[in-house]
Amino acid sequence: MTPRTQPAAPPCILVIFGVAGDLTRRLLLPALYNLRRANLLPEDFALIGVARSDKDDATFRDDLGDSLREFSLGEVVASDWDWLAERMSYLQGEFDDPTVYERLTQRLAKVREEHHTGGNCLFYLATPPQAFPKIVRRLGDADLVKEDDGRWRRVIIEKPFGTDLRSAQALNLELLSVLAEHQIYRIDHYLGKETVQNIMVFRFANGIFEPLWNRNHIDHVQITVAETVGVERRGKFYEETGALRDMVPNHLFQLLTFIAMEPPTCFAADAVRAEKCKVLDAIHDFGSQDVRQNVVRGQYDAGALGGTAVGPYRKASNVAPDSTTETYVALKLMIDNWRWAGVPFYLRTGKALARRRTEVVIQFKQAPAALFRDTPVERLTANDLILHIQPEEGVTLRFGAKIPGPSVRMGSVEMKFDYRDYFKAAPNTGYETLIYDCMTGDATLFKRADCIEAGWRVVQPVLDAWSEDGVAGLLIYPAGSAGPGEADALLARDGRRWRILGGSDGNRVASERSNISAESG
Ligand code: BG6
Repeated sequence: MTPRTQPAAPPCILVIFGVAGDLTRRLLLPALYNLRRANLLPEDFALIGVARSDKDDATFRDDLGDSLREFSLGEVVASDWDWLAERMSYLQGEFDDPTVYERLTQRLAKVREEHHTGGNCLFYLATPPQAFPKIVRRLGDADLVKEDDGRWRRVIIEKPFGTDLRSAQALNLELLSVLAEHQIYRIDHYLGKETVQNIMVFRFANGIFEPLWNRNHIDHVQITVAETVGVERRGKFYEETGALRDMVPNHLFQLLTFIAMEPPTCFAADAVRAEKCKVLDAIHDFGSQDVRQNVVRGQYDAGALGGTAVGPYRKASNVAPDSTTETYVALKLMIDNWRWAGVPFYLRTGKALARRRTEVVIQFKQAPAALFRDTPVERLTANDLILHIQPEEGVTLRFGAKIPGPSVRMGSVEMKFDYRDYFKAAPNTGYETLIYDCMTGDATLFKRADCIEAGWRVVQPVLDAWSEDGVAGLLIYPAGSAGPGEADALLARDGRRWRILGGSDGNRVASERSNISAESG
């Protein structure tokens, strides 16, 4: 345990539904352990795990102990694990069985007495999304989410929040028929990433960038979430989901809204969330023609990544041999507001790509080149500000500099900030902040119902156009490439190009370094 710089969360009981699943084992448990290590869990804390299989408390603790040793990001210190383990108990049952909630009521009373936790209770639904409405309804029927004793009752759910606009609205209605909005904490794990949270600090705590952060100075913005992993064993989920639903209205729109939002009046949750929501509301509607022109979808075929052969998406398990599910999407969005009118936002995400890289590139407008008319400098390098989200974590600013020598020649150089050079953060899963914030009632990093619906409203015309088009318009790209060439054409039409990702196709194989020297006059 390390000395804390923040106060511990208030006394509470955490109930995890789906405690035997991957989310709990890989992320929630290591995060709880890290919170204990940082001394951020309250002394009066208890955890009740709910799942289907039959086991006693001792076996439950042993199983979680094994999981922690497998997935912890650091060495497991016995005293900290013992502290957690002695506060854990297990409840067996089906999520839809009303008697489970009767037993849960009794268990909560017992645990409250044993661990002096008081009435605060956090229900974490680490279950498949189909179970969310059932569990919430049962919690409501059993009077487990009423806050009339002055204590809080909160529910955490994870994406997917619906699969389209209609289902997202239906889910929100279901949840809000039992819970008040302030009791619902919807997690987008991208908001647990330090580098994503840093976007707000970067923009609003520094005087030098914000004056430039608008249509007068910014040419365009690129947001890339590129993954090298393919669909792996998630074929069943992915077939019905695809890259757009899986990544765009959630993770990419989180990045987009942090980049494009107005400064909130304060850092209160609702002030921040309202500003983010306004950005989504201001995105220009896609008509069906716009979709065909401004959205590119692709699916990976056989290829190679880092010298290893990768099979085609259509041969992955639980994937149809004639699947039309996209594993790549690139799109151009326009935000119709005072700050961004006329500035394109290009977004792309895909699986089995050449490189794992999440980043935002802000490209500033070119300086007028008139001054260099009589020199060999034909084209000025654009000034890029690159926010590296992962795996690199930092910020790069690219600008032009004179190459030493008698003639005026210019090269592109970089000023670089790397998190590791400045800050020594303990390894974390990203869930530490989110769980702690939920326990302390700070909803800033969680999604509100209206923001979820606003995100789906933007992508719904794309989903509609694709379901009309079927296979037409689905482009095939080799695994290990930078995605379909048409994604390059999307920018080339506007006289722009993506920051190079790397890959095995034509020009796009070029390394960034050679790209820079090609621009060097
Ligand atoms: C998940 C998606 O939400 O995010 C996955 O379902 C994707 O398909 C993952 O791989 C990406 O998260 P990260 O943190 O690895 O960028």
